[in-house]
Amino acid sequence: MSASPSKNTVRVGVIGTGRIGRIHTTNLMRRIEGATVAAVADPFVDNAREWLDPLGVPEIHKDYKAVLGNPEVDAVYVCSSTDTHAQIVEEAAAAGKHIFCEKPIDLDVAKVRGALEKVERAGVTMMVGFNRRFDHNYAALQAAVAAGEVGQVHLVKITSRDPQPPPIDYVKVSGGLFLDMTIHDFDMARFLSGSEVTAVSAAGTVLVSNEIGAAGDIDTAVITLWFENGAIGVIDNSRQAVYGYDQRAEVFGSKGMVRTENDTETRVIRTTAEGPRSDKPLWFFLERYAEAYARESEAFVRALREGTTPPTTGADGLAPMLIGGAARKSLEEKRVVTIAEVS
Ligand SMILES: NC(=O)c1ccc[n+]([C@@H]2O[C@H](COP(=O)([O-])OP(=O)(O)OC[C@H]3O[C@@H](n4cnc5c(N)ncnc54)[C@H](O)[C@@H]3O)[C@@H](O)[C@H]2O)c1
Repeated sequence: MSASPSKNTVRVGVIGTGRIGRIHTTNLMRRIEGATVAAVADPFVDNAREWLDPLGVPEIHKDYKAVLGNPEVDAVYVCSSTDTHAQIVEEAAAAGKHIFCEKPIDLDVAKVRGALEKVERAGVTMMVGFNRRFDHNYAALQAAVAAGEVGQVHLVKITSRDPQPPPIDYVKVSGGLFLDMTIHDFDMARFLSGSEVTAVSAAGTVLVSNEIGAAGDIDTAVITLWFENGAIGVIDNSRQAVYGYDQRAEVFGSKGMVRTENDTETRVIRTTAEGPRSDKPLWFFLERYAEAYARESEAFVRALREGTTPPTTGADGLAPMLIGGAARKSLEEKRVVTIAEVS
């Protein structure tokens, strides 16, 4: 349970009470020490009443401006649909609120830059929700690499496959595979390598859903990355892995290799005449990253209470967007594209 609001408690306003807004609101009310949700807003908040009412959030609004206008609110969580983020971030900064913004900040780089400038000018703290950095496996991989356990990094390999494609209406406004899905992997590549991506080559195709192809998107991709520190990397994506959410990574270097397998419900292996059988990966992001979402909120609240920079900043929100833009260009033009070209 969060502590009862005191002077030192961070009072949060959550904007958007859909899938991700529910996770953050629940964590902030039930699990995150030093934080409480003072208000939520969503034009369709009535759809959330079943899970929201038992949490006892004191103020429930349809219009996010009511949250921004509440002087009791110290920070907002921007959990609304992607196309609303940049505008809300700018207004929140102008209102002097600290900001946790779900990825992506916007699908348009100029809009992202505009919003980040307003945040900078307002002097508020901003964190972007790259939850995978807070996953126990990926955090341990990164710590091992940063501690020099693999020596000089040579190769980064990331596998990221969803169990099923999202609804086609979502795909149409998602910004495409690279900005909607691979954006997490681009962030992970920067996180694990400890280096910036300088160039990209992408191959993509439609093998899962003709509807996705008709919407001008792809559902299967391989992306090669070049890093500033000389390392190279590869990401593979699919919108449909029939065995569940496939989330693995490996970093290989001069002194060895670190890698992580999928999380499963249990570690039990049943062996019969047909052969061995073990659990499938946890189904999707809500299951696999449940703990990571709580840990990222802990990190945000800690940064606000201690006055430090959060682990993922607005700049960390922009960098993978540029990589995604370069990947799209590479796919279209069938050539290696540098990040400088799209910056
Ligand atoms: N980090 C992650 O793992 C992760 C996972 C899922 C979604 N997301 C991101 O979170 C955002 C929301 O995704 P979701 O899956 O929760 O979507 P969702 O459709 O379940 O929820 C979005 C909610 O925003 C509300 N909304 C729309 N406009 C609004 C406004 N002006 N003010 C307040 N509320 C508004 C909608 O009514 C809806 O309830 C997206 O940007 C998505 O990319 C991140």
